[in-house]
Amino acid sequence: MDKYGVFGNPIKHSLSPTIHTQFAKQTGINISYDKILAPINEFSSSARQFINQGAKGFNVTVPFKLDAFKLATKLTTNAQTAGAVNTIKVDGQTLIGENTDGIGLVNDLVKNLNINLKDKVILILGAGGATRGILLPLLKQRPKRIMIANRTTSKAINLAKDFSSHGKTCGFGLEKVKHEPVDIIINATSASLDGKMPDIANGVANGSICYDLMYGTQTPFMNWAQKNNAKMVVNGLGMLVEQAAAAFEFWTGKQPGTQKVIANLRS
Ligand code: ATR
Repeated sequence: MDKYGVFGNPIKHSLSPTIHTQFAKQTGINISYDKILAPINEFSSSARQFINQGAKGFNVTVPFKLDAFKLATKLTTNAQTAGAVNTIKVDGQTLIGENTDGIGLVNDLVKNLNINLKDKVILILGAGGATRGILLPLLKQRPKRIMIANRTTSKAINLAKDFSSHGKTCGFGLEKVKHEPVDIIINATSASLDGKMPDIANGVANGSICYDLMYGTQTPFMNWAQKNNAKMVVNGLGMLVEQAAAAFEFWTGKQPGTQKVIANLRS
């Protein structure tokens, strides 16, 4: 039996074991998948212990994605650009760090929701780790422009500069968001965790696709989008399953089907 798991703190409510168990069944691979609660300052020792027990790989969630980046001895381009790791593959003595968050988002948008990102105008709210993690895979879809709007303007400007060689990006403060609609708005802030909605012009949502990276609840961003006539309002459940599928494939070389798993979780 191949040993996998997910590290986080908290981790109790993680859906990853349910998702990976379904992938394993589908692809006929015999795996165990544990939830591991690592103490805040002890990610590295917990991970090493898991590896010594014969683990073939593991996922990493909040707040350990930067620790996992440091633990990895080799990084994929995605992980390098994202500056964070959510998936580690154990390959002998080598720990390969990957980041599947952005691929997960793109696959949900393109494959599951049938949204072509080419030539679209995308507005991302927030300029933290979550935004950094999704920028490269989004830019690879060749949108017309990605605008990053953040409460702290300088962070948006710096992030846009960091990625400007990969496509057209610009950064500004939330107050500069215009009432003009865009094609897609992605909420990558952590505001929902505090029950808040970033303070932006309502008109931007009119007729746009509004995607919240968070899943599980109807977030304040989703309520705002509905109230302001968004064309489509989506939470991050599909992204969660797709990032897991990309991790599963990274470990096993087998690509699991995601549609049924998403439908199961939604119901
Ligand atoms: P993550 O890794 O989830 O991206 P982070 O790096 O702490 O977490 O970033 C959180 C993001 O949410 C930041 O862009 C933050 O804005 P600031 O850079 O100005 O701090 C944004 N954010 C959090 N609460 C917010 C709120 N109430 N309104 C607007 N933006 C908010």
